[in-house]
Amino acid sequence: MTNLMISKHPLLAHKLTKLRNVETEPKKFRELVREMAGLLAYEATADLKIEPKEVQTPLRSAPGFVLKEKIGLVPILRAGLGMVEGIWELMPSAEVWHIGIYRDEKTLKPVEYYNKLPTEPTVSVCLVLDPMLATGGSAVATIDVLKRWGVNRIKFVGLIGAPEGVQNLQQHHPDVPIYLAALDDHLNEVGYIVPGLGDAGDRQFGTG
Ligand code: PRP
Ligand code: URA
Repeated sequence: MTNLMISKHPLLAHKLTKLRNVETEPKKFRELVREMAGLLAYEATADLKIEPKEVQTPLRSAPGFVLKEKIGLVPILRAGLGMVEGIWELMPSAEVWHIGIYRDEKTLKPVEYYNKLPTEPTVSVCLVLDPMLATGGSAVATIDVLKRWGVNRIKFVGLIGAPEGVQNLQQHHPDVPIYLAALDDHLNEVGYIVPGLGDAGDRQFGTG
């Protein structure tokens, strides 16, 4: 699968194993989601554009760089929320734009319920954040919204994907690279990723 990056980082493999564990309680689960999001974003932002900028050290001036691109973090509510802080710590000047989408339990189709994007785009590159890429419907719908908004440089950052979701996202948005900690086996009959981790929103927020 092209444009799909599955991290081989040992820290991510270690943390993902704890995250999957049914015994992991919400506080620890949130901590792991935050930490893993930061590690994945580090990999997903390796090609951000920079421009030269001189800096004055206590000894002399030195050549340096600053980020050239304005970054938007776009968590898909709810579960994507837990990924924001870990990434924001790395790039505090990023803007955060929330998109509310849930999957209809019967049809598994995405339903949009929150979007306060201003008319004109305010960022040039967006990281779409959602721990789970299951059917891919939520990710495709979010990226549709961002492209209509006018942003064309978009990356998807998730924790676990299913082959079905990766295929769907690549079919609709082949230009969007996908960064994951793991590609799992399949979706079950009710659209859950197997082996997965269960419901990412419920496990973070202690619901369900
Ligand atoms: C989960 C998850 C994704 C979506 C993935 O959200 O956080 O947004 O499902 O499934 P898909 O790839 O098949 O669209 P959910 O719909 O459970 O909403 P919630 O985060 O509000 O619980
Ligand atoms: N959403 C989740 O939270 N988990 C899944 O396995 C699939 C969709």
